[in-house]
Amino acid sequence: MTIRVARLPAELNWSPRGTAVVIDVLRATTVITTALRAGAADVVVCGEIDEAVRLAETTEPRPLLCGERACCPIPGFDLGNSPSEYTPSRMAGRRLIMTTTNGTRAVLAARGFPRILAASFNNLAAVVAQLSCHDEVSIICAGTDGETTEEDDLLAGAIVDSLLAVERLGGDDGVGNDRDLRRDESGLGTAASAVLRAWRDYLASGQALADRLAESTGGRNLIAQGYQRDIDVCAELDSTTAIGIIDAAGPLNFRLLTPPRHA
Ligand code: MLT
Repeated sequence: MTIRVARLPAELNWSPRGTAVVIDVLRATTVITTALRAGAADVVVCGEIDEAVRLAETTEPRPLLCGERACCPIPGFDLGNSPSEYTPSRMAGRRLIMTTTNGTRAVLAARGFPRILAASFNNLAAVVAQLSCHDEVSIICAGTDGETTEEDDLLAGAIVDSLLAVERLGGDDGVGNDRDLRRDESGLGTAASAVLRAWRDYLASGQALADRLAESTGGRNLIAQGYQRDIDVCAELDSTTAIGIIDAAGPLNFRLLTPPRHA
């Protein structure tokens, strides 16, 4: 397996092959996961507010407009960017159109990859299980306003760490193999090594994840706007197996990944 990491969308300078994993822990990719888990039909991502509004106005039945700017709900939109707003009764079969400051732009940067997954701490184990049978994985962090952020680095590092562990155990085929695998950190690039180190340092600290996220750039921004509770939700590890996936052959919308059925 080849694992590449872009700590910002702007660092994505390789050709789109295999699976892209987009990360905006606080809060866009956590919200996408929550919305699909709660029963949304799909989540269409847009870069700009006017584009999202135009799309909503020309779609029947009218989708829910969702997202934030500077962490706060967008005037005229139906929902902000707090996971707690994305309840089953609101989601039930609805199409969502979402635009956020950094997260949806990171998804746009991943356009062209054959598959794009939305990762969060809530679905970490499910994402890793899904990736373990893929040969090429590109992890793309949203960052905040063009700067890398610790919360996204940590999740990227957790994914890299887990994938390395899967490979050490012999990968998904359970027989070990001599494909183009990178079983240990020696084969990782600079960014992948950096996020792996950040995650392992965090683990060694023994700090609660929510407390660590609260100290990050994204965490401090949310606290300043009164969204401390969202940090706790975004820090919940493996609370769901739901994964949003874009099959890039189609439009840029996340749907719930249906796990393969085994006979
Ligand atoms: C973003 O896209 O920058 C985040 O989702 C910010 C937020 O949740 O407020």
